[in-house]
Amino acid sequence: MSYPGMTDLKLKEQTVFERSRTGRKGYSLPFEELDSAEKILPEELMRKELDLPELSEIDVVRHYTRLSTYNFSIDLGFYPLGSCTMKYNPKINEKMARLNGFAGLHPEAPLDTAQGTLRLMYEMQQMLNEIGGYAATTLNPSAGAHGEYVGLGIIRSYFKKKGDTKRKKIIIPDSAHGTNPASCTLNGFDVVLLESNAEGKVCVDCLKNMLDDEVAGIMLTNPNTLGVFESDILEITKAVHDAGALVYGDGANMNAILGIARPGDMGIDVLHYNLHKTFSTPHGGGGPGAGPVGVCEKLVDFLPDPYVVKEGDFYKFVNFPDTMGRIRSFYGNMGITLRAFVYLLEYGSDHISEIAENAVLNANYIKACLKDIYHLKYKSDTLHEVVFDDSTLENGITTMDIAKALIDRGFHPPTVYFPLIVQGAIMIEPTETESKETLDSFIEAMKDIFETAKTDPENILKAPLNTAVSRPDETLAARKPVLKYCKEGD
Ligand SMILES: Cc1ncc(COP(=O)(O)O)c(C=O)c1O
Repeated sequence: MSYPGMTDLKLKEQTVFERSRTGRKGYSLPFEELDSAEKILPEELMRKELDLPELSEIDVVRHYTRLSTYNFSIDLGFYPLGSCTMKYNPKINEKMARLNGFAGLHPEAPLDTAQGTLRLMYEMQQMLNEIGGYAATTLNPSAGAHGEYVGLGIIRSYFKKKGDTKRKKIIIPDSAHGTNPASCTLNGFDVVLLESNAEGKVCVDCLKNMLDDEVAGIMLTNPNTLGVFESDILEITKAVHDAGALVYGDGANMNAILGIARPGDMGIDVLHYNLHKTFSTPHGGGGPGAGPVGVCEKLVDFLPDPYVVKEGDFYKFVNFPDTMGRIRSFYGNMGITLRAFVYLLEYGSDHISEIAENAVLNANYIKACLKDIYHLKYKSDTLHEVVFDDSTLENGITTMDIAKALIDRGFHPPTVYFPLIVQGAIMIEPTETESKETLDSFIEAMKDIFETAKTDPENILKAPLNTAVSRPDETLAARKPVLKYCKEGD
């Protein structure tokens, strides 16, 4: 086993506590001030003992630098996590987000001292309205799933206001992301599952048979999680509207159609964006995110508080008459909105479609190069991602083994075992930010794994062999994470 900078395995695998030596230190503090701080703090709040490790600066730097190499990031390499759109985050976004005028602004600051930030929010609302084809877009939700929760809350409020309380069902295709049914349930809706057809799309006739006066809406991802564009979308939205219901769009896959097609024009009444996917903001490790929700004209009054408007030259907040209320503290994840705003300006409205064009090109290049060895359950044309499975691999090699073997070859694994309608799914989404050279070396790695599975299956079954940790019990690690150092015997 070897990993960067590993010259002395025993020493390097120690925790900071184990490396601690009494009296060793790597700081210098103004002691006079510290002394007076001690006098200010009440005696009962002072700790009598604090078991902190004692280390020199170089020990600390090496320890944390080494730990940082245990993880994978988009800055380190290709991260083709399907459905998650892990694209490169340009450093200019980070620089802008750190500008003191934005980063240092207090959320309770008087409006006339926060006009720059309010203007940015207003313009972001406008840009998202234009991109999605909506009358208004709230920036408040903190993630895609939160956007879903809000969007369905808007649908619930809409029917409540109409006095149409019978509509309790939301139809969801079986290819949908797991957060879709969860968001319905949290809003008090009953989920009705719609099976995909042999092309991996919504079966329009099945949908029509399901529509009645108890259906509040359908939740649709377009393109769906197979990367397949729902080409019957206009017929679908018309049928749903004719039945008196609404269409919710899961916009997590906007990267495939950005600047080319608008969900609002397809008849999708309410849609969430995942700023942290489509608009390049970082989202490894579970956050932070932003899930703005766009709505058509008749749903505007139900948007959550607050909303930014421009009155003359002044930007201010308003609340809509039938608002569903506040859905979080303050005004959304501003840092994320800001990064996404910068990303949009970098492209400009004339070039935004290049994002989708290149994302689709890259995914189809990978598909074309691998489709003769890796199996495709659905043969339909796909856009920004491609879903293979493990059925052609020999010697019992599974999707999980392929994922682990990719780590040894320097790549982050694709999304695995999702969508659920493809057994052993390997869902690859390269995004627009990768070069042909990167795609080629990923393709080579996938081919190598396929061949090695035949000739040396142990190499794949034991992978990863080049990382500090190989195959932890993932369930145990997720359910009972050990996040705290315990001395032996504690
Ligand atoms: C299709 C789809 N919908 C919704 C979500 C939920 O988004 P978030 O992770 O921001 O809550 C995801 C997340 O990966 C997704 O892929």
